[in-house]
This record gives sequence, C-alpha cells and structure tokens, in this order.
Amino acid sequence: MYNNLLLEQKGHINVITINRPKQLNALNKETIEELHKAIKSADEDLNTGVIILTGSGEKSFVAGADIKEFADFTIAQGGELAQKGQELLFTFIENCSKPVIAAVNGFALGGGLELAMCSHIRVASSNARMGLPEVSLGVIPGYGGTQRLAQLVGRGKANEMVFTAGIIKADEALKCGLVNYVVELDELMAKAEDIAERILNNSGTAITSVIRSVNASYIDGINGYDVEIEEFGKCFGTVDFKEGTIAFLEKRKPNFRK
Ligand code: CAA
Repeated sequence: MYNNLLLEQKGHINVITINRPKQLNALNKETIEELHKAIKSADEDLNTGVIILTGSGEKSFVAGADIKEFADFTIAQGGELAQKGQELLFTFIENCSKPVIAAVNGFALGGGLELAMCSHIRVASSNARMGLPEVSLGVIPGYGGTQRLAQLVGRGKANEMVFTAGIIKADEALKCGLVNYVVELDELMAKAEDIAERILNNSGTAITSVIRSVNASYIDGINGYDVEIEEFGKCFGTVDFKEGTIAFLEKRKPNFRK
C-alpha cells in the first residue's frame, strides 16, 4: 500500500516507520505524501490513540529533505516545496488530534529534525545526531525549523545550531530540552511505547483539547488562555468526562477505551 512506509498496529498504538534506508530515510515528495495519508488515517482511526514515528535501520531517523529532488529547483519551486511540506506534514502533525511521538533512532537532520520537532514528544537513542545543517547547502530550514527549534531550545542556542550547521549528540539534545529522553537504541521503541501506554490510560478527547490549547499559544492573533477556557468547557459535554469523574467517585480506574 505504501512504497516508503512500514505500518504496524500495536494495540492502540500506530507505529509508522519511514523506510528508505539506502537514502537514510530522506523525505522525498512521495514519502511526504504517504506520511500525510498514513497519519491522517491513524488520526481518524477509532482504534488508534497514539502514533509513533521512527526511521528504518540503525543509522538514521530521517536525514532531511531529499536533496537530490530539489537540487535544480527555481525560487517558486523552492517556496512551493516548503509550503506544501509544512501543510501536508509538519503543521499537519502538530495539529493532529492524537499525540505523535518521534522515536529518533539516528540522524535527524534538516527536515528530519523538523519532523521530530513538530511531533508532540521526542525520544532519542544514544546514537542519535541532530541538527539543521541547511545553511551548509545555501538554503534554510523550510519545514518549520527556524520557528520550532527556537521554541524548544531558546533563540540563542537555536541561532548557534543553525548558523554553524552544527550537529549535536543525543546527550546535548537532552540537556537543551530538544528531546524528552535518551535511551539505548535497542530500548528506543520500548521507551516510546511505554510513554504511549501511559498516555492511553487517559482521556483521548481531553488530550485533543490539550493539543489544541497548547498549539493556540503559537498562533498569531489567538489568545491561548481563551482557547483553554473554551476547550475546558467543551470537556464537560464529553463521555470521557462522565467516565473520568464517575470512576473517581466510585474509587475505580476510568475506562476510556470501552
Ligand atoms: N537527501 C538525499 N539523499 C540523502 C540525504 C538527503 N538529505 N542524506 C543522505 N542521503 C543519501 C546519500 O546521498 C547516500 O546516497 P548514495 O549512496 O546514493 O550516494 C546515502 O543517503 C547514504 O548517505 P552518505 O553516504 O552521505 O552517508 P554518511 O554516513 O557518509 O553520512 C550524513 C551521513 C552525515 C547524514 C550525510 O548523508 C548527510 O550529510 N546528509 C545530508 C544531511 C542534510 O544536509 N540534511 C538537510 C537536507 S535539506 C532540508 O532538510 C531542507 C528543509 O528543511 C526543507
């Protein structure tokens, strides 16, 4: 069904593996379109509560946008590449109604780090290497990297990383808040799945409201506090709220996934 992805359903977790290992899982146009399709269908699937993104092989999560594909692009084509990519994949993931966890299993460079950064949570293996080296190619990060790196690590650190095209190791990424955890490569998926399972104990509709509220603070002209108030109110009309509060009063664990 997909030329560049492997899909696996593990209970309520949908694992999407980018599978172009010979190209270090670089994101060509077809892979971006396939990721859009796979994430959209996982987001719409009632059986899925969390999505995990990873790369195939032991060397690379994603080594960036596919340089071979855009090497002879014009100004207009360059702009369109960034615009389409953000719309189909990067902004799309950030606004996904279900949590997306990036399991970063090696190089996450350029578009690869941008893919990890638009995910809601990042876990890295100790061999992971991260950076936005686009200026070394005479271009800039175009899939949201100039915005999200500064949001995650602060403007000074982000500027240094991007200006120097620097590539940092997993422990430094952990220190500066770029990833949530670093574990050995053979424990990476178990760690991502453990976080996913802990998320799955909770209300999916409430988590969607959290995603909307958090994202609202990054949208110009939108007051995040107002969105939080609206989303908070909406929770009171959900089946999950009834189940969560009744379970508390009955001194039992809530069952949000009947
Ligand atoms: N695009 C296309 N192909 C890529 C690629 C990329 N981003 N990264 C790696 N590959 C390909 C290589 O061309 C090579 O293919 P061939 O065997 O056909 O030549 C194969 O993957 C293996 O790569 P290397 O031989 O280079 O492996 P290495 O171990 O020597 O080096 C690396 C690994 C340091 C990650 C190096 O491949 C590299 O620097 N890659 C490019 C990283 C980069 O600059 N990413 C940013 C891309 S631009 C971007 O993402 C723009 C944006 O924001 C929208």
